[in-house]
Amino acid sequence: MNAVEIEQAISELAEQPFDSVEFPFQFLQAFGNKETTLKKLRTGNTNKSDLGGVLQANNIHIVVCAEGEVSSTLESIKNSLATKKAKAKYALATDGVMFEAEELSSEEQVACEFDQFHDHFGFFLGLAGISTVKAIRENSFDVKATSRLDRLYVQLLKENPEWAASERREEMNHFMARLIFCFFSEDTSIFAGDDLFTNTVNQMSERDSSNTHDVIGEIFRAMNTPIAERNEVEITRWADRFPYVNGGLFAGSTECPKFSKIAKAYLLKVGQLDWTKINPDIFGSMIQAVADDEERGELGMHYTSVPNILKVLNPLFLDELRESLEEAGDNARKLLNLRKRISKIRVFDPACGSGNFLVIAYKELRQIENEVNERREENGRKSEIPLTNFRGIEIRGFSAEIARLALIIAEYQCDVEYLGQKEALIEFLPLSSENWITCGNALRLDWLSVCPPTGTGVKHVAEDLFEETHEQFEVDFENEGGETFICGNPPFSGYNKQTPEQKADMAIVLEGKIQRWGKLDYVSCWLYLAASYCQKNRSKSAFVTTNSIFQGTQVPILWDSLFQSGAKIFFAHTSFKWRNLAAHNAGITVAIVGFTYEKVSKRLLMSGGKNDTVTVQAPKNINGYLIDAPSVSIDQRSSPLSDLPKMSFGNHPYFASQLIMNRDEAKAMVREDPSCEEFLRPIYGSKELVTSNPRICIWVTETDAEKAMDCKLLTERFAEVKSIRSSKIKDKTALKLAEKPFRFRDQFEATTSFIAVPQVTSENREFLPVSILGGASLVTFKCFAIYDSPLWALSLVASRLHWVWVGAVCARMRTDFSYSNTLGWNTFPVPTLTDKNKKDLTRCAENILLAREAHFPATIADLYYPNKMPENLRQAHEENDETLERIYIGRRFRNDTERLEKLFDMYSKMTANTAA
Ligand SMILES: C[S@@+](CC[C@H](N)C(=O)[O-])C[C@H]1O[C@@H](n2cnc3c(N)ncnc32)[C@H](O)[C@@H]1O
Repeated sequence: MNAVEIEQAISELAEQPFDSVEFPFQFLQAFGNKETTLKKLRTGNTNKSDLGGVLQANNIHIVVCAEGEVSSTLESIKNSLATKKAKAKYALATDGVMFEAEELSSEEQVACEFDQFHDHFGFFLGLAGISTVKAIRENSFDVKATSRLDRLYVQLLKENPEWAASERREEMNHFMARLIFCFFSEDTSIFAGDDLFTNTVNQMSERDSSNTHDVIGEIFRAMNTPIAERNEVEITRWADRFPYVNGGLFAGSTECPKFSKIAKAYLLKVGQLDWTKINPDIFGSMIQAVADDEERGELGMHYTSVPNILKVLNPLFLDELRESLEEAGDNARKLLNLRKRISKIRVFDPACGSGNFLVIAYKELRQIENEVNERREENGRKSEIPLTNFRGIEIRGFSAEIARLALIIAEYQCDVEYLGQKEALIEFLPLSSENWITCGNALRLDWLSVCPPTGTGVKHVAEDLFEETHEQFEVDFENEGGETFICGNPPFSGYNKQTPEQKADMAIVLEGKIQRWGKLDYVSCWLYLAASYCQKNRSKSAFVTTNSIFQGTQVPILWDSLFQSGAKIFFAHTSFKWRNLAAHNAGITVAIVGFTYEKVSKRLLMSGGKNDTVTVQAPKNINGYLIDAPSVSIDQRSSPLSDLPKMSFGNHPYFASQLIMNRDEAKAMVREDPSCEEFLRPIYGSKELVTSNPRICIWVTETDAEKAMDCKLLTERFAEVKSIRSSKIKDKTALKLAEKPFRFRDQFEATTSFIAVPQVTSENREFLPVSILGGASLVTFKCFAIYDSPLWALSLVASRLHWVWVGAVCARMRTDFSYSNTLGWNTFPVPTLTDKNKKDLTRCAENILLAREAHFPATIADLYYPNKMPENLRQAHEENDETLERIYIGRRFRNDTERLEKLFDMYSKMTANTAA
């Protein structure tokens, strides 16, 4: 079940009379439990409760108790042995009058009257495997409203299929935006009389709802007509009670989709909610999912939490403003200057979605302004912060509309909070006609026109809030001396995932500006355009981005170019998981980067540790890898920078999968023709290496090719390879290799033994799971190899120092390291090693191998399982690191940051020497 379905089920359950016996089962059913599961719980088979309730293992312990005993019952549930044994996540007690629950790991609690429990359904979403951020749990109104609008939207599209077609979808979305405005207004006294909109629709609609669309249309028409003109256009009496709204929101066609009785019931249900509780930042993000066919029902899976938005806005400019406020104290002059400064701050989000970054920025600035007013004893003073200072570009029409609406609602709520309801109402209507959220492709628009940093553009008063893009940005802007902060969470897309349109966008922005731009992530375009904007103005930018632009080959391509233009990273939040309301909350890994051309102090923030605490550093410099080190870029090298043995690629079969087989196939082959055996060798890729489970390959060199041809089973396979390679008519290598179908493209092997390094490994391991293999073994291109290597090289590859270096400079695939010999090994800075150093490191490498052997037959995957490394192996690695790090700096490094700083420092010196 998705969150929308759960909300519906819980709301329906809340409407039923309380049944003390059935309630636990009904509750579980509402969270998606199937009838068979419930049946087993009813018969007691799986019910583990020791308190006469219902205990579902790994989920919840529910007890219905006697009246007045809810709190004590909740305590009993928490202390019950069965609760602990069954690893219940939640405890729930109710007597049908009161309702109390606790999420046992976080100790978060809910306590309310029974008939209000449905308001807390977000709290329990974990029961359905949906992990939620705290803000969602605490804002069930937004979840509920989205869920109900979602149902209404689906129902209306079902009843009005022509509105679902792409030509009318925009109109449908406008209609929804108008409805949201009406629901909000009828609960916040913007409309005179409680529930004026819902009640009017209800009263004036025919029983069969056949005229509901006309009723709503007439109300919309009234809101688009100034009071003085209403007689003339004959607005109906009951619609005349609605105010003139203007602002373009009700301009244009007032045609509405038709309503069945069901759709009307859904509409009334949305109206019953208390819209004063709307949270424009959260709600906006969620509601945009309603209009998106792929996301609908998921309640805005990609919801960005307020704390995450503040991770961008605080270091970008809010922290500094708060410091100024602190410093101003009660000094009236300083406070006045700060207020003036705030009123001229422009926030620009060029991929604004439903405007959540803008809304949060607006609300935070209003809060600071209010503090200024209070300190100056000017409480209740009208705000000087124009909404039009919060500018955005958004490609999706509905999101752009919601962004505008969310800002309007945020302004009203701030006015109510700081000026009082009466003043807020006076200020609110009619809405301004200015359009300051541009609907369009940010990569094809001129940002300076959308958000001109100073001066005035052509004053443009829109006829329609939804007017065409190219005219929207010409809003008057008196902003002499103001600052602009660019921020947001633009879309990411790796070079091999980009659509043709995105590739074309990239070409428009980056062609001729950045070399090798084709390898960059789509998000780089926003960084490039923001940098160009900042270069010309007094501006700073900060974006949430994929962490891939701070790794591997993208760093030299993007950051060298930005640094050369004079840009500096002034703050960064290194990689962290971006959690959201996703059913399977894998969470993507992102980083935040702030850059500018101004001279400002720097800050480096890092999340980590048990509670995801953030540590803050004041670095000298932040480079393109987001490390406090000189701005060097690590480019691929064909040979090692340090005095290290050569690391080669594994062997690529090159359209010759027939040369590789599993072990059973190999055994069968040998049984049938034992003469094949001498041509069979074990071969490892990344997976085979860490699971110690090689496949078998046919390995034939030029010298023994003739002999191999005598073996029929082999020649059959060679014939297949020849045929496949020959079919690759555009691939010269394949065609050439078709003449020698017995061989892999590469034929690297060791004489005695070799070090094998997997190409892909999970970042959750603490060390690279490197292995030593005998000379008979081979590796595919999914591994790298140091053939006939001295053993001390294993000590280096297996070290923490190498791990952090690879983590920083090589690319990643999701959360896996993607090892590269040219980027990771050949660039690895190592001091000159004396014979004694090599001897010591050899001993360390031997100890690691011996420690592993003690656990035979455990595989590398078992031994290096995150947090489960055997103690003797960890100890061997500790000694290895100790020995190696003493060679670098005479002591252990304090942490990975210090390791990286040293490595980058060495790298820049060593490459400078090479260049000299
Ligand atoms: C990751 S979302 C962030 C939106 C919002 N800040 C949030 O957290 O929900 C990226 C937004 O960029 C918009 N977008 C994608 N490509 C765009 C483009 N070329 N121009 C403008 N907006 C774009 C998407 O529609 C989406 O709303």
